[in-house]
Amino acid sequence: MSEVLNAAALPRDPRRPIAPAPPLEPERPRIRDIAAFFFRARRNLLTAFSDLVYRQPIVRRAFMGTPVWIVSDPEAVKRILLDNVANYPKGVQQQRRLRPAVGDGLLTAGGESWRWQRRTTAPAFQHKKIVAFAPAMTAAADDMLKAWASAGAREIDLPREMMFLTYDVLSRTVFGADARTDAQKMGAAFERYFDTIGKLDLAAFLNLPEWVPTLGRLRARPALRYFHGEIGRIVAERRALLARAAAAAPDDLLTMLLTATDPEDGRPMDDRQVIDNAITFIGAGHETTANALCWTLYLLSEFDWADARVAEELDRVLNGRLPTAEDAGRLVYTRQVLEEAMRLYPPAPFLGREAIEADELCGLPVKPGTQILVSPWIIHRHASLWDEPDLFDPDRFAPGRREAIHRFAYIPFGAGPRICIGMAFAMQEAVLLLATMLQRHRFKAVAPEAIEPHATITLRPRGGMKMRIEPR
Ligand code: HEM
Repeated sequence: MSEVLNAAALPRDPRRPIAPAPPLEPERPRIRDIAAFFFRARRNLLTAFSDLVYRQPIVRRAFMGTPVWIVSDPEAVKRILLDNVANYPKGVQQQRRLRPAVGDGLLTAGGESWRWQRRTTAPAFQHKKIVAFAPAMTAAADDMLKAWASAGAREIDLPREMMFLTYDVLSRTVFGADARTDAQKMGAAFERYFDTIGKLDLAAFLNLPEWVPTLGRLRARPALRYFHGEIGRIVAERRALLARAAAAAPDDLLTMLLTATDPEDGRPMDDRQVIDNAITFIGAGHETTANALCWTLYLLSEFDWADARVAEELDRVLNGRLPTAEDAGRLVYTRQVLEEAMRLYPPAPFLGREAIEADELCGLPVKPGTQILVSPWIIHRHASLWDEPDLFDPDRFAPGRREAIHRFAYIPFGAGPRICIGMAFAMQEAVLLLATMLQRHRFKAVAPEAIEPHATITLRPRGGMKMRIEPR
């Protein structure tokens, strides 16, 4: 079953006919187009691209002499993210915006430093560790629902609630129960940081170096000071506890970071690397998952037939009890809805890369220095990759049908060696949080026609998303 989405929530007409891909557009640098692009992109990056990007395998542009390619052909994406990954490191734009917060942690590091950190942190995300985090995940959702009930909440600001919820999950799983931070203050600091650095400013657009004190960068400073101070304090306390009484330390991601050693040379992480990675896990893991939850609940609020199928599955599998890690695997339809929500609204909508050496994509020569945009937002709505791409249809991901999807046509978590390390964590978390919430409540958007996806670094609903909550 499928239905056409609310047109107001999309930047294009979702009923337009699907056209066959026209030939590739030639490279044509035009200054006035670039200026227009900047102003449109600053308002909302999603609306800055022409309709061509949803139909062509590659769209080539140039900005001040630098070629900029928007690549959507799955085989070309595979070449960039996997087969020739060494030639396409992360682009400087996103790195510059993220580095002040996450330093040289796993998300932003490159080369040997990245390889070493990935090897060293991978054991923290093994299946059995993630399963052990399930009770903390459902407990966070259960606590939130109890707080709503005791406050008599009828209407909520969904993005804000989901940000606190996913921050709470990370606080419980990264720092354990003993060293929890002030979720409200820390969540607000991250929100401020993403709000300020997420906006495209002229400095970022013109690639000015990190030391240039632009307004956005100055505004982000208090938030940066706050979370570096707090997380530095927690890391120091935990290191002292591990030295004094290692057995008493909680079995959480922070202990894993502090005790992890390189499987090859036995080297541990220093304090700076531990702090950078703790902030990375929170920064990369809380807003993305919060957005996935918001868009899933928005779609369920729009499509009653999908909401009813989820409710039926939750009743059948859970029969009123809280979900466990094993249930996350049994809630097949709930997971399909989440996957379809991340297709239509990928929480990380744009991945930036830069070609180091000459290469070839779709038979076209790539020059060194070419900026490459691989966009889950564009790829997931591409007319040549999806039947009726703007339709909401969770059954695309039904067992037996999802195998037909090209591995590089659905990339909410990226792909290749730099695929999201938190993917299994996030999928289990999102299914458990959705199941806990949807078991007890139905969510109804207050003004669905006004909801508009807005891309900064992540994909949020512009101006929030008010939801009425009704008991089931
Ligand atoms: C729905 C939730 C999430 C989404 C959609 C998501 C998406 C992504 C994407 C697309 C990338 C690749 C970026 C690139 O290639 O440029 C990535 C990387 C990363 N993510 Fe996630 N993420 C999510 C949740 C999480 C969570 C929960 C954590 C940690 C607890 C996390 C930690 C990271 C880290 C550390 C990286 C960098 C990995 C590397 O470069 O080796 N993410 N994520």
